[in-house]
Amino acid sequence: MMVPVTSPADPLPAPPPVPAAAPRPGRVLQTAGLKADLARALTARYGAPVLPTGPVQVGGEPLASHAASAEVVVTSGRLGLHPTVLDALPALRAVVSFGVGYDTIDVARAAERGVVVSNTPDVLTDCVADTAVALALDVMRGFSAADRWVRTGAWAHGVELPLTRRLSGARVGILGLGRIGCAIAHRLEAFGCAISYHNRRERPGVDHPYVATPLELAASVDLLVVAAAGGTASRPLVGRAELEALGPDGFLVNVGRGSVVDEEALVELLGAGGLGGAGLDVFAAEPDVPAALRALDNVVLLPHVGSATVETRADMTRLVLANLDAWLTGSRLVTPVAESRPLLVG
Ligand code: 8YV
Repeated sequence: MMVPVTSPADPLPAPPPVPAAAPRPGRVLQTAGLKADLARALTARYGAPVLPTGPVQVGGEPLASHAASAEVVVTSGRLGLHPTVLDALPALRAVVSFGVGYDTIDVARAAERGVVVSNTPDVLTDCVADTAVALALDVMRGFSAADRWVRTGAWAHGVELPLTRRLSGARVGILGLGRIGCAIAHRLEAFGCAISYHNRRERPGVDHPYVATPLELAASVDLLVVAAAGGTASRPLVGRAELEALGPDGFLVNVGRGSVVDEEALVELLGAGGLGGAGLDVFAAEPDVPAALRALDNVVLLPHVGSATVETRADMTRLVLANLDAWLTGSRLVTPVAESRPLLVG
């Protein structure tokens, strides 16, 4: 085995017992818009009031009325936590989040306040890696475009489909060799791909070549797979130069965060033939996807569904509740976010 992988059979830690006494009302808050079964569990088990999202959170009546009691907020990577909520809830001690990415939560600011944050790593690794491979196959082989070609009747009218590109044996660069990046590499090893990677730091024990910059990586591969977490970097890791280096025969897959790629340059190059194609599960301003991107045929566009299976979402829900129960019963969070965690991880 060339890269460390998490076994799909890795069990969740046994959930701690439900707290003997129901927590005081208002001790746990939930952000509006959580997955329905998680929201129901939070209401039923913890009497957790729903905190509206957006500007209404800030200083509004719902927030002010919980200022003295709220010790935990349950949210998600998508919903995040408005930074000023931290200031408005002086009793807050923990943020429990659904999702591995936490770029929408200011972890450093939370740490300054003594607020710990948890996420849901590992349990979604396999599904997100599966999605990356599916996007790679789809965009390189043009399967979704071919499906449209059949549906519109073009096949029956004898119109020729252009030939596509082979994934098996291709040179693949992985940007961000964290848990998810490793799981993608592991899958692509089975496709006979020549894998190289760039990460904030070289990973010990990985046989694949480490490449010093995203630009050099992009210039040396047929397919660049982004599995890097979003951060606060002022310049996207994959900018115009990296996309131009991939070139007209090159492909991009992004299952990390839209902020990691210069979306404007991406759309321009895809439309002008400067880049072969892109398979995207994440976008700069979700759920808005630029009309120019939606009009292209050399792209596969998914609505951020990397972890969206029944099994994985159930595992994520269980891990959120395990973190919450652990914290409420005085134990350490099961999967705390390390404040010093590097950006290029998944
Ligand atoms: C989640 C994700 O669905 O876990 C992540 O970081 O991007 C997705 O898999 C999302 O964060 C839930 O809000």
